[in-house]
Amino acid sequence: MSELARLSFSIEKPLLERLERMVAEGNYGNRSEFIRDMIRDRLVAEAWEKNEEALGTVTLLFDHHSRNLSEKLIELQHDFEGTIMASTHVHLTHHLCAEMIMVRGRAGQIRALTDALHQLKGVLHATLSMSSTGRALA
Ligand code: NI
Repeated sequence: MSELARLSFSIEKPLLERLERMVAEGNYGNRSEFIRDMIRDRLVAEAWEKNEEALGTVTLLFDHHSRNLSEKLIELQHDFEGTIMASTHVHLTHHLCAEMIMVRGRAGQIRALTDALHQLKGVLHATLSMSSTGRALA
């Protein structure tokens, strides 16, 4: 843990009231925790914008009866073998499957993979959770 620095800053009263509400609603212990988290979120967003190395999870929902979809999903994931670290498949119902794919790499590469997965016929939903390898926060 780095050494802590103390700072004070000026803020308009209505904005302060909003901050207090967000701290309370977010179940943060205090303002400092909230502001630290907000800065980290911003740093992660910037790393994604600048196409830096990032970490993420792609969640897919698909109908495995859709023609050749299982094969196409496997083929596409092999095309991104350097980016995909692990994946988990869950059989939700007789038709539906969910797959969580953990990815690490350039933000643009991760987005390209997500888009390509999303575009396959039979994929009902694809969402990307964007995080950091930690470098963006150091
Ligand atoms: Ni399945």
